[in-house]
Amino acid sequence: MKEGGDNPVSVDVTPGSTVPPAPQIAVKDRGRMQGEEVGRVILDLRDLSAYYGDFRAVREVSLPIHQNEITALIGPSGCGKTTVLRCLNRMNDLIEGARIEGEVLYHGVDLYHRDVDPVEVRRRIGMVFQKPNPFPKSIYDNVAFGPRIAGFKGKMDDLVEESLRKAALWDEVKDKLHGSGLAISGGQQQRLCIARAIAVEPDVILMDEPCSSLDPIATLRIEELMQELTTDYTIVIVTHNMQQAARVADRTAFFTVDVRQDGQRTGILVEYDQTDMIFTTPSDPRTEDYVTGRFG
Ligand SMILES: Nc1ncnc2c1ncn2[C@@H]1O[C@H](COP(=O)(O)OP(=O)(O)O)[C@@H](O)[C@H]1O
Ligand SMILES: [Mg+2]
Repeated sequence: MKEGGDNPVSVDVTPGSTVPPAPQIAVKDRGRMQGEEVGRVILDLRDLSAYYGDFRAVREVSLPIHQNEITALIGPSGCGKTTVLRCLNRMNDLIEGARIEGEVLYHGVDLYHRDVDPVEVRRRIGMVFQKPNPFPKSIYDNVAFGPRIAGFKGKMDDLVEESLRKAALWDEVKDKLHGSGLAISGGQQQRLCIARAIAVEPDVILMDEPCSSLDPIATLRIEELMQELTTDYTIVIVTHNMQQAARVADRTAFFTVDVRQDGQRTGILVEYDQTDMIFTTPSDPRTEDYVTGRFG
């Protein structure tokens, strides 16, 4: 046991092995302990099932989301990532026939309690979508839109500047604040949407594949921004890009589609852990197959 005995990453590289090596996935460098210290639970899914009409899209998901962390939801297409994300700010209320069973607690409060105002929920828990979707208005008015509706009484110029600075966009747009929000690059538009979400002072930001329409450089810019934002916000990101989850997320939840014998399909949460555990030593073989690319 003198060679590599203490080295947990020593790998069997027997010549002639037909098993392809697992793709190298760089995992975010944050100690487990550090990750664990950060997180008070801010959002807590308890036995959440989500339905569209009679179709149960997601079954009995329990998932605590920790404050000031980035939590990634990964898994194959159709496993319910977007559905779960939308349940976190009652966006699914807007879909006809959608309903849930179970609970979503936010700071311990049931978000679906009948006394809870869904508009307020969506102010506190903002959403950034797959495709950047600035309003056909000026950059300034995109950011000022939410605060105006909410009756913001302070200095709007300052709020707009602060929101754009937090979204790492200020320097690029400060000279064209009154130009169209649609006349900037896709990556800038996505950061504008983040600024717009930030302007109403949320404490959680949900992002559904926010980089899927962006080039690699714009993607890295958003990933850096996400890291910066965890000082003030909690982020939940859906991504089909495992490298992205590994790079940015503190914790990762892996979902898959469970197919019953009668052919009924439903999304389930397979495993949820610190990101490094999910990518290096997953406890479920289905997670391992997925993160090593063996998923068929
Ligand atoms: N508005 C909807 N109406 C009916 N079924 C839906 C709707 N949105 C999603 N679904 C179904 O719910 C399941 C989960 O979808 P989704 O949450 O979009 O998965 P993912 O984001 O992981 O690809 C899929 O079978 C999908 O077809
Ligand atoms: Mg989706």
